[in-house]
Amino acid sequence: MATTSTLADNYFELSGQVALVTGASSGLGRHFATILAHAGCTVVATARREERLQALRDKINQDTDIAGSLHPYTLDVTEPDNINAVLQSVATDLGPVAVLVNNAGIGKTSFFLDADDKTTNEVIETNQQAVWQVAQRCAQQMVEHHVTGSIINIASVLGLRVLTGAASYAVSKAAVIQMTKVMALELARYNIRANAIAPGYFSTEMNSEFLDSDAGQKILKRAPMRRHGELSELDGILLLLASTRSRYMTGTVIPVDGGHTISSL
Ligand SMILES: NC(=O)c1ccc[n+]([C@@H]2O[C@H](COP(=O)([O-])OP(=O)(O)OC[C@H]3O[C@@H](n4cnc5c(N)ncnc54)[C@H](OP(=O)(O)O)[C@@H]3O)[C@@H](O)[C@H]2O)c1
Repeated sequence: MATTSTLADNYFELSGQVALVTGASSGLGRHFATILAHAGCTVVATARREERLQALRDKINQDTDIAGSLHPYTLDVTEPDNINAVLQSVATDLGPVAVLVNNAGIGKTSFFLDADDKTTNEVIETNQQAVWQVAQRCAQQMVEHHVTGSIINIASVLGLRVLTGAASYAVSKAAVIQMTKVMALELARYNIRANAIAPGYFSTEMNSEFLDSDAGQKILKRAPMRRHGELSELDGILLLLASTRSRYMTGTVIPVDGGHTISSL
């Protein structure tokens, strides 16, 4: 049976690249970090839950079939000083970041009319402001070290369309899409590309309860493929955007959603 590393090694040129993933302690981020390690990257896995990152490190680094390696760094993306300190340590320990997967995010139910300021601010701070700050600091490091870089921002189909009950989340993800275009425009001259992935529904800690509910099942059934995605169905787009196979792509937003964005709600 072909392993992920065989597939990736043969086609995507990522060996030895330093790839930083935010929100690598669960869900999509944990999966992205694993896939990049399979592809030969030196993965910087970041999140607040340190013990989870350490468990992932042990799993990856003990697997002799995995070409790359994984290095945990505790990071709260809402703390700019923490971002600066982690990036500084990474540059010293492993070298400058070449691939950023800007993935950390939170999902909160909120209706526009009665959304409370505290929750709205939390969502904007984590999903929008922190995405900007992590990307900006990484891009500064890439420029300083003359690194050819790829920034992959994790948006959402809700950045492209709206759904009741996810007001602040949808706004924060629309901002991620627009900031991806801004980054692409201004960073191309430094050989840094920026693209966004807009996932549809993938069952993770953030939404599994909702997806299992009647309301969640209804939403899934409205999309053409009538199911949620499997994490492995994000591998292709991740490796494409991370590697030079996509070197003429920048400023794009790619839905991976089983057709969700073309369905009627
Ligand atoms: N699942 C989906 O269907 C779906 C769809 C579209 C987009 N997305 C996006 O995909 C990304 C990952 O979501 P997920 O579904 O994988 O959710 P998840 O399993 O809840 O993972 C969220 C990750 O973000 C990290 N995080 C949250 N706040 C953080 C902070 N202040 N500092 C550092 N890390 C923080 C969490 O780590 P710690 O708590 O350990 O810090 C965790 O690793 C999010 O941006 C989400 O909006 C998900």
